[in-house]
Amino acid sequence: MPGPDPERIHSMFSQIARRYDRANTVLSAGIHHRWRRSAVKLSGAKPGDRILDCATGTGDLAIAFKRIVGPQGEVAGIDFVEDMIVFARQKSRDVRFEVGDVTALPFESNTFDVASISFGIRNVGDPRKGIAEMTRVVKPGGRVIVLEFGRPRQRAFAAAYDLYRTRMLPAIGGLITGQKRAYEYLDQSSVAFPHGDAFASLMRESALFASVEFRPLTFGIAYLYRGVKK
Ligand SMILES: C[S@@+](CC[C@H](N)C(=O)[O-])C[C@H]1O[C@@H](n2cnc3c(N)ncnc32)[C@H](O)[C@@H]1O
Repeated sequence: MPGPDPERIHSMFSQIARRYDRANTVLSAGIHHRWRRSAVKLSGAKPGDRILDCATGTGDLAIAFKRIVGPQGEVAGIDFVEDMIVFARQKSRDVRFEVGDVTALPFESNTFDVASISFGIRNVGDPRKGIAEMTRVVKPGGRVIVLEFGRPRQRAFAAAYDLYRTRMLPAIGGLITGQKRAYEYLDQSSVAFPHGDAFASLMRESALFASVEFRPLTFGIAYLYRGVKK
């Protein structure tokens, strides 16, 4: 499954970095914070753990993990767009935010309890490589957590959501960030990317996990996946 062109993705996220948080909050009516809490809970992270959040953007998921692992724990957040990392650093000094690529992680193998990625995997040029790298750096028994958009299954809700994502989302995202095309891409990439069983199969095919499970969030607008490393 080929992913998007990394150069195009890099330049798109550099351009929207400054307004990214505001757009997220308006477009999801704040629900993305609840989804992140579900991701942290499913990961089983506990005080003292070591966590890596990949494609961290402005760092919201990494910061949510830091609240759980506490002062004894350690959270690193990496993203290949420096502008995103600049804003992440302004939000928390307790997380170590660094520029880095999820397909070539600058960390030793078997060293993290959890590696996570939220709304990032569909933007990675080679998503399989990204998952393989995240799995490499977690310890055996460690968890790889993926939060990504899906498609609602319930028909009436799906119709309303389709209208929202095809019309309102690019219009509002464009107004807030000045980059309407980025939000058209967000919609198109979400529809094209596998979700539910299809994405879980991609994780299972890697043969890196002892188990892979998933669950829909908010009627399937988003999905949460957990792979436990062999
Ligand atoms: C939609 S944002 C998600 C940011 C954040 N995780 C969140 O939940 O708000 C996608 C992020 O993926 C990053 N990204 C895309 N490909 C990447 C790669 N190969 N390595 C690291 N980051 C990448 C982009 O720079 C962007 O910040």
